[in-house]
Amino acid sequence: MEMNLKAKLKMSAVAVDMKKRALIAPSILSADFSKIGEEIREVESAGCDLIHVDVMDGHFVPNITIGPTVIRSIRKVTKLPLDVHLMIEDPIRYIKEFRDAGSDWITVHVEACQDVSLTLKQIKKLGAKVGISLRPKTGIGAIRPFLAEVDLVLVMTVEPGFGGQKFMPQMVQKIKELRPVFEGLISVDGGIAPDTARVTREAGVDIFVAGSAIFNAKDRKKSIGDLRQAFM
Ligand code: DX5
Ligand code: ZN
Repeated sequence: MEMNLKAKLKMSAVAVDMKKRALIAPSILSADFSKIGEEIREVESAGCDLIHVDVMDGHFVPNITIGPTVIRSIRKVTKLPLDVHLMIEDPIRYIKEFRDAGSDWITVHVEACQDVSLTLKQIKKLGAKVGISLRPKTGIGAIRPFLAEVDLVLVMTVEPGFGGQKFMPQMVQKIKELRPVFEGLISVDGGIAPDTARVTREAGVDIFVAGSAIFNAKDRKKSIGDLRQAFM
């Protein structure tokens, strides 16, 4: 009986959480890097909430993007929190550099860490918000032991590595499995556009990362508005 009540209370806390405003995090992977400052200012003035930065090392994923030097420059052009998604092998080696460069949220992949718990502790110790992410093929079981240590779970809805891929609808089930057991923020990344934002919002997602849906649109303000509209 008591267990039932506890479970019910837990569910109602989650329901209340879900009324929170959904946050939009444009991924600059699809932006024009020759004018990255302007690109960021444009999405900031269009009302987005975080700037998502994809860091890739050519090992954990088959693509190479940017590192702390570029993050340090980006830090100067926006007041928004920098949501840094590390798709790099053994990320603990670089956490301090990324934090010093101005990262506010640091997310690591469970598959990439030699010692997951130690890596998460290192992020926390440096004063950043702690995130954990998992590839589409990785089940919730892999991150479950660490849920109490993180502020954010970033659910990949495409294979990490490239922007502009198709959303994997099977991932909605993963979000539904995660929502009742995790009270922190759930973020979704890959193939997010108004239709996929709506279904993942219904499954309990708080933060919506979108690259091509925002930066490939002629009117960024409208694309951000269209995403917001999807949550109404
Ligand atoms: C993919 C990255 C994503 C990517 C999303 O590995 O983590 O953040 O930029 O791009 P879209 O929104 O185009 O799928
Ligand atoms: Zn990302």
